[in-house]
Amino acid sequence: MSIQQQRPATSLSTLQKIRDRGEKFACLTAYDACFAGILSQAGVEVLLVGDSLGMVLQGHDSTLPVTMADMVYHTGCVKRGNEGSLLMADLPFMSYASESQTLENAAALMRAGAHIVKLEGGAWIANTTRLLTERGIPVCAHMGLTPQSVNRLGGFYVQGRDTEQAQLIIEEAQMLEQSGANLLLLECVPRSLAKTISELLSIPVIGIGAGPDTTGQIMVLHDVLGISPITPKFVKNFLLESVNGIPGAIEQYVQAVKSQTFPAKQHCFN
Ligand code: KIV
Repeated sequence: MSIQQQRPATSLSTLQKIRDRGEKFACLTAYDACFAGILSQAGVEVLLVGDSLGMVLQGHDSTLPVTMADMVYHTGCVKRGNEGSLLMADLPFMSYASESQTLENAAALMRAGAHIVKLEGGAWIANTTRLLTERGIPVCAHMGLTPQSVNRLGGFYVQGRDTEQAQLIIEEAQMLEQSGANLLLLECVPRSLAKTISELLSIPVIGIGAGPDTTGQIMVLHDVLGISPITPKFVKNFLLESVNGIPGAIEQYVQAVKSQTFPAKQHCFN
């Protein structure tokens, strides 16, 4: 067993301590056992079994077709390859529409190996967050660009650009923290908004397309390896500079997040 394999498992309290020390942590999506092993050995603190699998694995044009069966299957795969990272799993579209459905589906993800579930929304998921956390299921609330609402949002656009919308996101983020959310994820929001929220909240904030001021950074695995058909502004292909193939690219991503060289100016929305 290598030294890296012996590092203590990452828990929510590990992430909280990283935040409180003013340091950074790295997260990536993972969908199978092989990559889960590579990512966790490279020091990625959080593996997300994201419903982005609907787009990068299944070839859909949104995350809406992803089912609970898909999520349970891939969570089980990642659990078997994971070597000590915190495993987060997405509750997919319409799987948390009622209380009983939420409890049943979140429990299924936890039984499959998740340590925390992620759900998308603002004020309307406050009760759901309380329902889950009071029953021992940690929650990451996903705000900003919430891909499950792509039809209401009108596309995959940056959120919180005007003052009124930014203020609403700030207030809803605070509400979700008060409702018991353990982590907050901000997707595609201006850097200044992510910075304000990260400073106001006491829980760790994870960003994607949200600038360098959040405690954690997350990316879709296929994006950091440069194999996604589309390259959004906030994406960097770490495989291009790697001297050790895929494991080297992942190690460079982790280093870049921790040393705060990623995301750089060109990856941010202002
Ligand atoms: O599903 C996913 O991969 C995500 C990330 C984009 C944060 O939610």
